[in-house]
Amino acid sequence: DGWTLVALDSVGSTNDEAIRLADGGAPEGTVVWAREQSGGRGRRGRNWSSPVGNLYSTTVLRPACAAQRAAELGFVAALAVGDIVPPGRAVRLKWPNDVLVDGGKVAGILLESAIGQDGLVEHVVAGIGVNVSFAPVLPDMRYPGASLGGSVEAALEGLTRALAARLAQWRRDGFDTVRAEWLAKAGPLGAEVDVRLGEGLVRGRFAGLDREGALLLETADGPRKIVSGELLGRAA
Ligand code: BTN
Repeated sequence: DGWTLVALDSVGSTNDEAIRLADGGAPEGTVVWAREQSGGRGRRGRNWSSPVGNLYSTTVLRPACAAQRAAELGFVAALAVGDIVPPGRAVRLKWPNDVLVDGGKVAGILLESAIGQDGLVEHVVAGIGVNVSFAPVLPDMRYPGASLGGSVEAALEGLTRALAARLAQWRRDGFDTVRAEWLAKAGPLGAEVDVRLGEGLVRGRFAGLDREGALLLETADGPRKIVSGELLGRAA
């Protein structure tokens, strides 16, 4: 399908490798895949445990959109991961970019963007880690783990196809249909949730996703829009 695969046995982080290639002019659709990472990175400065057996890949994207729209690609990537979950297993998407299967976290997504002086995105690397063979137990995991089963190679091929199709959808429709499909797979509207904002916590009812990808909450003090933070799930 015109995409280029860079396959590595071991690397620090596929995101770092993809950023290096993108800075050197690598085209959209350059996929960096490693069997293991020695310094896998998660969101919020966390580590991403990356032993052989799970999928670690990062795709170079050149969306040529305004910087504010880059976050939409995280929802595009989350839908693509949902597409490779075997039928019969329950997929639930958690804001911003987590994918849960049967209640356990099966994948994590780390987007990193380079913005040009004109305010347009030069490139985005979309790093995706998918638990295939096992679910690492991490001390700071907010959910139990889950894994997809099957082979890493099959997961990589499926994910690459799904990501290409979801990107085509985003280019065609803009954020509208991606947002609607993401919402259909997200937690129920009205559910009580806690959101971590830096050191603080905000409690509210899940009220949707706005046109920029921000989380909408109905709190005791009225509606709030959360641009960046971390959904902790059901409030106690
Ligand atoms: C998260 O915190 O949920 C995001 C985890 C992202 C992990 C993937 S694995 C492939 C790519 N390379 C990295 O170093 N991180 C991402």
